[in-house]
Amino acid sequence: MNQPLSIVILAAGKGSRMKSPKAKVLHEICGREMLYFSIKASRAITDDIIVVVAHQKDAVINAMERYFTGITFVTQDSENFPGTGGAMMGVKARYENVLVLNGDMPLITRASVDAFMNASSDIVMSVIPLEDPRGYGRVVIEEGKVQRIVEEKDATDEEKQINTVNAGVYAFKHHVLDRYLPQLTNNNAQGEYYLTDVIALAHSDGMIIAPLSVDEAEFKGVNSKNDLANAEMIMMDRLRREWMEKGVVMQLPHTIYLEEGVTFEGECILENGVRLCGSTLIADSHIKAHSVIEESTIRNSDIGPLAHIRPQSLIAETHIGNFVEVKKSTLTGVKAGHLSYLGDALIDEGTNIGAGTITCNYDGKKKYRTIIGKNVFVGSDTQLVAPVDIADNVIIAAGTTVTSGSYEGDILIISRTPVRKLAGFFTKFFAKGL
Ligand code: UD1
Ligand code: MG
Repeated sequence: MNQPLSIVILAAGKGSRMKSPKAKVLHEICGREMLYFSIKASRAITDDIIVVVAHQKDAVINAMERYFTGITFVTQDSENFPGTGGAMMGVKARYENVLVLNGDMPLITRASVDAFMNASSDIVMSVIPLEDPRGYGRVVIEEGKVQRIVEEKDATDEEKQINTVNAGVYAFKHHVLDRYLPQLTNNNAQGEYYLTDVIALAHSDGMIIAPLSVDEAEFKGVNSKNDLANAEMIMMDRLRREWMEKGVVMQLPHTIYLEEGVTFEGECILENGVRLCGSTLIADSHIKAHSVIEESTIRNSDIGPLAHIRPQSLIAETHIGNFVEVKKSTLTGVKAGHLSYLGDALIDEGTNIGAGTITCNYDGKKKYRTIIGKNVFVGSDTQLVAPVDIADNVIIAAGTTVTSGSYEGDILIISRTPVRKLAGFFTKFFAKGL
């Protein structure tokens, strides 16, 4: 059986290679901050998760408290003790085994962390052989034994040739950290306290450091925007595979963008180029090519191609066609086949929305609602100047501007400028010499 384990996630660094004012661990892949994924993987393993913060600490804590409770946040004294070693100095882990993860490793999975838990050495550290080891700490191994880790910025030309790198995940026995963290110095190229120096200190005392070969795809550190895009591709692929295994049909899956938090029920079909964001739920529905759905629920409906469903919409038993935008609206049993904007609306069963229908929901200051009852026929090119409340069984003639107010059932609403016919106008207008 696995022994209880504390997990420390280092998330205090600036991440200057991201070239961004935003803290590195808050950069997103698949719609969630990178740090979310490290905490999620850790959550499956332990109740003692410690996240070390400093740079933009309030933003980091607030972001994670949206998803998780019971995480311990520790603030690093990064002015006096910068670096990954400095990050560990204020940490008080609850258990004898302490796993340290970098917060810039969103691709790590529970299964790969399990391998560290089963080892019995004083230190287990992750190593990856890389064709291009640039940017990583190199692991110096002599006679099969890990001697030390040398950071790229401190490495000699010869050391830079080593292509076994430190992936940045370590399992320490508590006593190892207690003993060596106070001995770290910042006598190096970056003037930082390196956690990696614990390895050399432990080795010189005769401790055994067990290298554990890990999969590059899971342990890759995200240090740049290029790395971020690559990590997102890998994570997206995982999400798509997971949902296809559970029964979702995806056409050209590599063209489908899917965020963490999107869920499916029943039989769903996603055509190519679909983008699904936030906590969207799709149930027994067909989402056609190049449609975008954000933070909404879709049940027993077909959407698109090229439709845009914006946050807080609930669409059931409904047909939404091309170039229809829906925002914060509830549609049940509705047909809106073409070219419409339906915002802040509540539309009921049997209602048909003609092409070019627009809910005029904003007067420049406030947003207003449009309510349309059952079996309403909304003619093409209708504007509904909200607030509007239309009862059941109403016909709205094409081209009507429905002004604000309530309309009773069983009526025709029509506003039209009468057509004029000016005889001979065409010939006169285009006549030569005019
Ligand atoms: C680190 C390792 C390097 C390894 C690489 C793997 C050290 C000294 N080097 O380098 O050997 O190959 O990870 O990806 O550990 N952090 C803090 N406080 C700080 C500095 C960093 O919490 O003062 C956090 C960062 O937020 C980040 C993690 O530690 O999540 C790693 O920091 P980063 O700057 O990315 O280290 P690397 O240079 O990649
Ligand atoms: Mg890194």
